[in-house]
Amino acid sequence: MDVLVINGPNLNTLGTREPDIYGATTLAEIEAGLVAQGAAEGLEVDTFQSNHEGAIVDRLHAARAEGTRFVIINPGAFTHTSVAIRDAFAAVAIPFCEVHISNVHAREEFRRHSYLSDIAVGVLTGFGATGYTMAMHYVIERLKGE
Ligand code: DQA
Repeated sequence: MDVLVINGPNLNTLGTREPDIYGATTLAEIEAGLVAQGAAEGLEVDTFQSNHEGAIVDRLHAARAEGTRFVIINPGAFTHTSVAIRDAFAAVAIPFCEVHISNVHAREEFRRHSYLSDIAVGVLTGFGATGYTMAMHYVIERLKGE
């Protein structure tokens, strides 16, 4: 496995969830686009969504066992709460990008803090579903150089 795309809680409802904030694109459409974008460059891309913190921790542990080279994650609300997901990234030592569809800095104060940003390679926030595509573009360039 080259790239794992993880989406956290409530992101399975994209398309109908607060469309004024999150847009009309569904998670299935985002995931299919990323798999195709990676495949076009010869990269194997897997996707995972869960509403459960522990399931995301377990998926990260499995990712290390699978030899995953990079993770793109939208942790949803766990961004602002989860020491466990932060610790999991530190434990597996897989480089990752943090993606947010909305601009978390232009919303409520509690969304401005992330438990992941300082250990991420980079953060994309506010570019809508295109943020995932931008992250994958970076990953493609990065993995080509390895
Ligand atoms: C989000 C922003 C988070 O604050 C929120 O809890 C989400 C989605 C985004 O993609 O903009 O669930 O990560």
